[in-house]
Amino acid sequence: MPFDTGRPEMTAEEFRLLRDFVYAYCGILVRDDMKYVMERRLWPRLEALGLTDFSTYYRYLRFDAQRRSELETAVEALTTHETYFFREPRQLKAFSEEVLPVLERRNARSRRLRIWSAGCSSGEEAYTVAMLLLESGRFEGWDLEVHGTDISRRVLSAARLGEYGPSALRSTSPDKLARYFVHVGPNRVRVRDDVRAMVSFGHHNLRDVDSVPLSSRVDAVFCRNVLIYFDAPARQRVLRLLYDKLVPGGYLMLGHSENLINLSADFELVHLRGDLVYRRPELGGGGGT
Ligand SMILES: C[S@@+](CC[C@H](N)C(=O)[O-])C[C@H]1O[C@@H](n2cnc3c(N)ncnc32)[C@H](O)[C@@H]1O
Repeated sequence: MPFDTGRPEMTAEEFRLLRDFVYAYCGILVRDDMKYVMERRLWPRLEALGLTDFSTYYRYLRFDAQRRSELETAVEALTTHETYFFREPRQLKAFSEEVLPVLERRNARSRRLRIWSAGCSSGEEAYTVAMLLLESGRFEGWDLEVHGTDISRRVLSAARLGEYGPSALRSTSPDKLARYFVHVGPNRVRVRDDVRAMVSFGHHNLRDVDSVPLSSRVDAVFCRNVLIYFDAPARQRVLRLLYDKLVPGGYLMLGHSENLINLSADFELVHLRGDLVYRRPELGGGGGT
């Protein structure tokens, strides 16, 4: 006999409806074996709204006047925002030592560099990139902009605040901590103002190809540990968007467990000394770094 929690169980039909609805909105696929996870994470929403079952919740998401903000809250509850500063150091080293010199040469005339952190969560990745640009010493006096976007408004407000605790800093060396952060309380630091000035944040659902909040194409996109939550068709759509938003010759940095096999032939694989990265080919073909 099932243990009676007093909470409604999600039927197979309710699971299918909610799963498809979430997928259509943001491309995140809740696998069949995650019905229990979905149930557990959405219970608090039913409680908060005073609803008695998941069918009523589904109807709320579809038809209520508050449906838009509730859908965002539901997606919030279903997504993972795990991130930290200087995540995947090997890739960051290759980016600093091998990609940035190329971008410096390429943009020497315009002295302008744009980088997009797509699926930036609470901002650690975008700030890390800004710190790497400063650290390189290559771009003094340049017009530099790192733009972070995410579907979750909650993580974006944390990103704008720019204050972090020990978990976000677990991969940050003491010298970087001293150089790029100021203490604001016990176990609490804030990203230094000159780094914050290089970084901006905006709300964007990667499914929305028509409303990307970028003023111009970018020289590199970091889209790390985001595609893993999507199924193949959603990944392909996002990759097409990233391709369109990159300048020819611009770089795509994925998470270390992600690749484009069977997903996109648009990008070329670049073998750097320290890592493999993807690049939108130059017009008329790529080749070389
Ligand atoms: C695991 S975090 C990765 C953060 C960072 N890129 C990193 O690698 O450390 C994934 C982020 O992707 C965001 N995300 C998921 N679906 C999205 C969508 N459809 N559009 C934009 N962001 C999305 C989530 O809100 C979450 O903050």
